Amino acid sequence: MALTPPTPSDDAPVPASPSVAAPPHRPAPGAPPLPGQADISREIAARHTAAERDREAGAPAPDHPARDFAPYRSTTARHPRRPPVEIDHRADPEAVELGGPAFGVTDVSDLDADLTRQHTGEPLGERITVTGRVLDRTGRPVRGQLVEIWQANAAGRYAHRRDRHPAPLDPHFTGVGRCLTDDAGRYAFTTIKPGAYPWRNHHNAWRPAHIHFSFFGSAFTQRLITQMYFPGDPLFPYDPILGSVTDPAARARLVAAYDHELNVPERSLGYRWDVVLDGPSATWIEEGR
Ligand SMILES: [Fe+2]
Repeated sequence: MALTPPTPSDDAPVPASPSVAAPPHRPAPGAPPLPGQADISREIAARHTAAERDREAGAPAPDHPARDFAPYRSTTARHPRRPPVEIDHRADPEAVELGGPAFGVTDVSDLDADLTRQHTGEPLGERITVTGRVLDRTGRPVRGQLVEIWQANAAGRYAHRRDRHPAPLDPHFTGVGRCLTDDAGRYAFTTIKPGAYPWRNHHNAWRPAHIHFSFFGSAFTQRLITQMYFPGDPLFPYDPILGSVTDPAARARLVAAYDHELNVPERSLGYRWDVVLDGPSATWIEEGR
């Protein structure tokens, strides 16, 4: 399998998406100290209050986080500062594919969707099944959709050279998977529950456990990226990335549900997470549609 290792943290670029490449947020030598959690939590609360006020005033509901969300410090560096480059499709039809994915050109196999079987041994951690449906705004299934995931291992460490978190790497876990949705729009992955990890957005900043998801449309230039969370995570209120989703209902839609019926007895726990690509109940994504 020719899958690319995942990115180290949420202040780093996602795979194969040069439009969102951004330098990690690291204080320069001599820079002022990082803000504390109380500062960040206060800023998140202020943004949520402002969003609530906008909703009550009848403002159109956003479907993705603001490009500049101050509590999430590196957002200012995570979007282009210049207008998009126009591509002349007639002169070079293949130019639109230059930003294609780094997941290789091989066919999608069953092994790609089972992150616990991609090496010679079993990875450490809690085995889980994550499954759900990809739907359009009318609730119809989106069939044959390429779904990709990337994540940290059970200790909260990405298998990526840029991840400096001093938690152990797992030689049996790369943390990357992909599959195609079936006729019911269903995807399914077997993996390991990722651990929380620290990042330097502010002092004592920790990301809640999450799995990054990518959905391609009918071309590589159509890609939606978001994150799935696990129910009941105590880190939710402290996280400016989840907090950048200012609509509480939309935040709730990013959290998977534990589903006892999805458990594989004696093997794994099951989580269900449906994704709606557009419309009023759309799953929030990291870039504008
Ligand atoms: Fe992450």
